[in-house]
Amino acid sequence: MRAELLQGLLATPAFTSPKYLYDALGSKLFEAITELPEYYPSRTEAAIFEAHATAMAALLPAGATLVDLGAGNCEKAARLFPIFRPQRYVAVDISVEFLRKSLGSLQAQFPALAMLGVGMDFSSSLTLPPQAGTGPRVLFYPGSSIGNFTPDQALTFLRQARAACNGGGLLIGVDLVKPAEVLQPAYDDELGVTAAFNRNLLPHLNQLAGTDFRLSDWQHVAFFNTGKSRIEMHLQALQALRVCWPGGERRFAKGERIHTENSYKWRQADFAALLKTAGFTHIPAWTDERGWFAVFWAQA
Ligand code: AVI
Repeated sequence: MRAELLQGLLATPAFTSPKYLYDALGSKLFEAITELPEYYPSRTEAAIFEAHATAMAALLPAGATLVDLGAGNCEKAARLFPIFRPQRYVAVDISVEFLRKSLGSLQAQFPALAMLGVGMDFSSSLTLPPQAGTGPRVLFYPGSSIGNFTPDQALTFLRQARAACNGGGLLIGVDLVKPAEVLQPAYDDELGVTAAFNRNLLPHLNQLAGTDFRLSDWQHVAFFNTGKSRIEMHLQALQALRVCWPGGERRFAKGERIHTENSYKWRQADFAALLKTAGFTHIPAWTDERGWFAVFWAQA
């Protein structure tokens, strides 16, 4: 992890994987982002589930294991338990302590449902442990986290997801292309919560890689790159500076950036085509009135 991080920091332009945004505080800051008036994806997706969960449930295999990828506080999946009636719930997340707490209180709420927590980084490989069940699985990947992958990475991930379904399928939320005037504030809110989420990466890197980043040297930058159909988040140096770690250093000029996240926005037809390329069939989708967000059911 340290080697991967330092390689990204030494690259030009410097970059880090978005997974490092999620230490315990980062996960809480992301939760706060989902409450912001500007951050439309969470509430738009929630309304789609509220309106169509029963129709979705009719398509899911009976008695399946519900595998929640990037479960976080597990709230989205828990709202669907009474409608989907899974046989088992498997919550997967990279932020292990946060997951442990979320799952602990959820098990108390649903004592009859078998639950398993899996702490893993599924962005590189999606091989689930045998305890995740051998029958059909419904992989639940809401929130448009797929948007944090490049299209090539997304295809690799979707192929792995199809293999992990055991004949079940994938229920996935995808943020769609919309005007930059809506997208931009969603990633640069007035209160500065997204800025805090992005800047919190720096103390996390200090802890993981022994770097000596100072928060006061860096500002949050977010914009919509229309050509690439993605929001880009960066951290920008406020002055010329040097970042040191045991055995190395990197100099940054004033204004130089570290690219910390992409959030791709898809056209609905393009994403359906990507699911087909990954080998899924029967791909119904549900969307909101404004066509801002879509939830796809993709049968493996
Ligand atoms: C988790 N992921 C889908 C969020 C997004 O919208 O790309 C992460 C995020 N970054 C800034 N705000 C939210």
